[in-house]
Amino acid sequence: MSALPKFVGLRLADGRSDTAVVLLGAGVVGGALLRLLSAGGHDVRLVGLANSTRQCVDPTGLDFDAAPALLAQAEVGRSDDALLAALDASGAARRVVVDATASAETASRHADWLSRGYAVVTANKIAAAASADAWRGLRAASARGAFYGDAATVGAGLPVLATLRRLHACGDALVALEGVFSGSLSWLFNRYDGTRPFSSLLREARAWGYTEPDPRVDLCGADVARKLVILARAAGHAIDVDDVAVEGLVPASLRDVDVETFLARAGELDVIIAERHAAALAEGYCLRHLATFDANGRAHVGLVAVGADHPAARLSGADNLFALTTQRYRARPLVIQGPGAGADVTAQALLGDLLALAPARFAAL
Ligand SMILES: NC(=O)c1ccc[n+]([C@@H]2O[C@H](COP(=O)([O-])OP(=O)(O)OC[C@H]3O[C@@H](n4cnc5c(N)ncnc54)[C@H](OP(=O)(O)O)[C@@H]3O)[C@@H](O)[C@H]2O)c1
Repeated sequence: MSALPKFVGLRLADGRSDTAVVLLGAGVVGGALLRLLSAGGHDVRLVGLANSTRQCVDPTGLDFDAAPALLAQAEVGRSDDALLAALDASGAARRVVVDATASAETASRHADWLSRGYAVVTANKIAAAASADAWRGLRAASARGAFYGDAATVGAGLPVLATLRRLHACGDALVALEGVFSGSLSWLFNRYDGTRPFSSLLREARAWGYTEPDPRVDLCGADVARKLVILARAAGHAIDVDDVAVEGLVPASLRDVDVETFLARAGELDVIIAERHAAALAEGYCLRHLATFDANGRAHVGLVAVGADHPAARLSGADNLFALTTQRYRARPLVIQGPGAGADVTAQALLGDLLALAPARFAAL
């Protein structure tokens, strides 16, 4: 195997060149990021690692491989201040908080961290999809100079946010945005053809880890609505989650039961999906879980019957699809498609944002 390229970070006048990182979240994505960092080829130093109850810090740098075990053995106790102090004590040129949690509390601190001069790199969508006021606070804090890396929040790092921002910066207005933004819902409806009960596929998807432990989190559409808001905002449209008409797939009778009861009674979904499928099939269509947005601000998330010529009809696996129709891509949309879930690609999006902080890093390639 060829050696990884050696990156040379931007070296300041006093010789400092590296990137100090505090990683919040040592779960699926956080763990994958540590494995990527362990492969080397970067100038990132891990000075803190935390989960919801414990943390470990070392301003000189924790070993990427040993850090999860160190965290597991740490005493119970969490202090964001101690983690930020480790960043300050690191003496590194760049100080970054990486959020690999799904925590609303952590998301609520992003703007504060940015305003204190820390860069934030996140897979957690809650801050970027928050209410318009909270989002404006985040933007204002970032506009003052601190980097906000959100590539991992949509499409598990497929280059859709960067593309939308680039088109917007070039004055190319978004006319319509359409796509399949959920890996789990993509997989479910790519597989569903009416021959096997939907609930059986749902259990299989859960066993593969495609869905959240509580699949209603996927089925309710809220996560897709958040992604739609983040994308629309990247294209210059200040919409809110409340502006998105979301058609959830969980019947009222299953919304308030515990996960085990939901899984045991998931068969109640079968008739609903089978009827929708049969109606679509009768017209020569298939069902896809689509998110749509247009320049008039209309935003919708839910099941849609699409024809065989629709790009979503040709999806496979857990692929995501983003079709961007703009003033300059009007005759045919600009389409971005590919795996839209998975720990490794999501962690790679986080790493890409970390590397983007060091502008001179390609000089040595
Ligand atoms: N998995 C994917 O394929 C994927 C793809 C794209 C985006 N994402 C996003 O990435 C984020 C992480 O997903 P995941 O699958 O890695 O979740 P996960 O496996 O459940 O891990 C979440 C981690 O966050 C920690 N945590 C929770 N609250 C915290 C706090 N206040 N401070 C520090 N750590 C805290 C948890 O600690 P405890 O163990 O102590 O609770 C756990 O280590 C989510 O926002 C998710 O939507 C995931």
